[in-house]
Amino acid sequence: MAGTITFTIIKPGAVKNEHIGPILDKISDAGFHIAAMKMVQLSRSEARSFYCIHKDKPFFEDLVEFMVSGPIVAAILQKENAVDDFRKLIGNTDPTKAEPGTIRHMFAKSVQANAVHGSDSDENAQKESEYFFAGYEKFFEVKKTSCSEK
Ligand code: PPS
Repeated sequence: MAGTITFTIIKPGAVKNEHIGPILDKISDAGFHIAAMKMVQLSRSEARSFYCIHKDKPFFEDLVEFMVSGPIVAAILQKENAVDDFRKLIGNTDPTKAEPGTIRHMFAKSVQANAVHGSDSDENAQKESEYFFAGYEKFFEVKKTSCSEK
């Protein structure tokens, strides 16, 4: 495989506001290969399970309700240094603190409706990708060798 992976979700607010296209453009322009992608609506139990790391946080139920409020777009992104480069591209969780030019600065409305999720480690990128995608749904770029066919 060429590079490492990260996992992202375009969240319900950004989907409702027709930001899927502009967000995918930013992702593509930043050099990420889309290795898997689908639009789905989560059930409450799926959202609880995906965000279970935050189950004891005061905002957990609000976050779950928001994530089931409409369809989302889930994707696996591939690139060298994917996790860190994607976190830089999306910017701070709180859009008021996100740098100009970042996805959250451009498209997020609040800490909850912050346009996109991005994995915070290689380990979580793997887990989150496996939560959403089966093997036959993933299309990784393969590193070319001098013997590869064109
Ligand atoms: S923490 O506490 O530092 O782990 O939280 P953080 O990394 O900032 O955010 C984790 C995810 O929780 C969401 N979040 C919230 N949702 C609703 N209300 C409030 N107050 C709130 N604070 C944080 C935030 O959007 C993060 O979602 P992801 O999908 O990981 O971006």
